[in-house]
Amino acid sequence: MREERPVIALDFPNFEQVKDFLALFPSDERLYVKVGMELYYAVGPEMLAYIKRLGHSIFLDLKLHDIPNTVESAMRVLADFGVDMTNVHAAGGVEMMKAAKRGLGDSAKLIAVTQLTSTSEEQMRDYQNIQSSLKESVLHYAQKTYEAGLDGVVCSAQEAAAIKQVTSDDFICLTPGIRPQGAAAGDQKRVVSPADAYRIGSDYIVVGRPITQATDPVAAYREIYKEWNQL
Ligand code: C5P
Repeated sequence: MREERPVIALDFPNFEQVKDFLALFPSDERLYVKVGMELYYAVGPEMLAYIKRLGHSIFLDLKLHDIPNTVESAMRVLADFGVDMTNVHAAGGVEMMKAAKRGLGDSAKLIAVTQLTSTSEEQMRDYQNIQSSLKESVLHYAQKTYEAGLDGVVCSAQEAAAIKQVTSDDFICLTPGIRPQGAAAGDQKRVVSPADAYRIGSDYIVVGRPITQATDPVAAYREIYKEWNQL
């Protein structure tokens, strides 16, 4: 289940910047990129078609959360775009996740967000009124995601081992918050290096600014690739 290529978060505001960024790489190199809400809402499906034409793989990070019927129909649309992976919020419930899977079919992997990493334990207790620890809540949602038949979850690398224990070794742990040694953490609070993510058991790592904002993005990507694959 492990993906050798670090997934590059294309957190750019417009199409031009994405084109310029992708053009830095050799034309025969196949990347794995993440398209998030900002870029998708700004440019739309045209963006995805462009990236697919270049032969890259896409994780469409739109975090769907609505009634099962609506999510199923939306997933049917996303399946037609030919993305490789997309996601929902586990908080939407098992029926919603099953509906999402039905809509998407087997064409792409489907993962779920458990608790957002921006949610603190205090906030979860006060606002969501969930009286367990944050870790217990993450593991609970991961188990429900597994029961719903999804492929994995978005999580902190630090949670990956515990999640696999309550689900299965094949259950995907996709982890953002990755920083190569010595890189600026930015607004990420709990960062893990690519080498540690490998040791802990992440299956996919998502890396944004350490690559996109680097002076030499291709060199930064290669370094992270090496560290992640222990080369
Ligand atoms: O630039 P950076 O490497 O921090 O980018 C990480 C990417 O992963 C961003 O697109 C961010 O929105 C996303 N992400 C995250 N933490 C999560 C879920 C998604 O950082 N829990």
